[in-house]
Amino acid sequence: MMDSFEFNKIAGGVLGTLTLTMMLGIAAHMIFAPGVPAKPGYDLPSAAAEQTSATPSAPAEPLPVLLAKADPVKGQAFAKACGACHNFEKGQGAKVGPPLWGVVGRQVASVAGFNYSDALKAKGGAWTMDDVNKFITNPKAYVAGTKMGFAGEGSPEKRAAIIAYLDKLSDNPEPLPKP
Ligand code: HEC
Repeated sequence: MMDSFEFNKIAGGVLGTLTLTMMLGIAAHMIFAPGVPAKPGYDLPSAAAEQTSATPSAPAEPLPVLLAKADPVKGQAFAKACGACHNFEKGQGAKVGPPLWGVVGRQVASVAGFNYSDALKAKGGAWTMDDVNKFITNPKAYVAGTKMGFAGEGSPEKRAAIIAYLDKLSDNPEPLPKP
């Protein structure tokens, strides 16, 4: 048989535990739930300045602007991806693709003896920097039916660097367009 003293001890313990739990709950609520701020973190003075700078979603800068900033030496490194299929040096022949020496300003699909696709042969005109830019962004979207098996270079800056490099592959490089 439990005597009343024992019962009180147990009841008191249970009550105490409940009270403590409740108090902790209230305290936790007070500490952690004072409204979620609209923007996490603190407002630092630099936050306003950051918002005025270019956002990643801003549209790409026009090619002439990118070309003016482009580094042909970096372009040469980026063009290693093209080197799997193209030669760059003067006098070199075709690989999987036609040689790219002098390609800027050259008639499209004009390297004698290279077996171009009908799609590229039908394109016509000469390779402007703008054309090359569009072509290497997504070859199959720009010239449907091309046999250039290259997925495309997604970075506008990298494309500009590659084009700045390609433009140098000539005895008479074309001047870069004025931004
Ligand atoms: C997987 C092989 C491959 C890769 C990689 C590749 N190309 Fe090509 N490229 C070709 C082929 C094949 C053609 C011919 C396409 C046709 O006839 O439709 C071609 C054609 C071209 C032409 C047209 C040349 C002309 O004489 O009209 C240009 C310009 C060109 N490529 C640039 C590039 C650049 C720049 C890169 C790298 C960013 C690149 N290619 C990467 C295979 C490739």
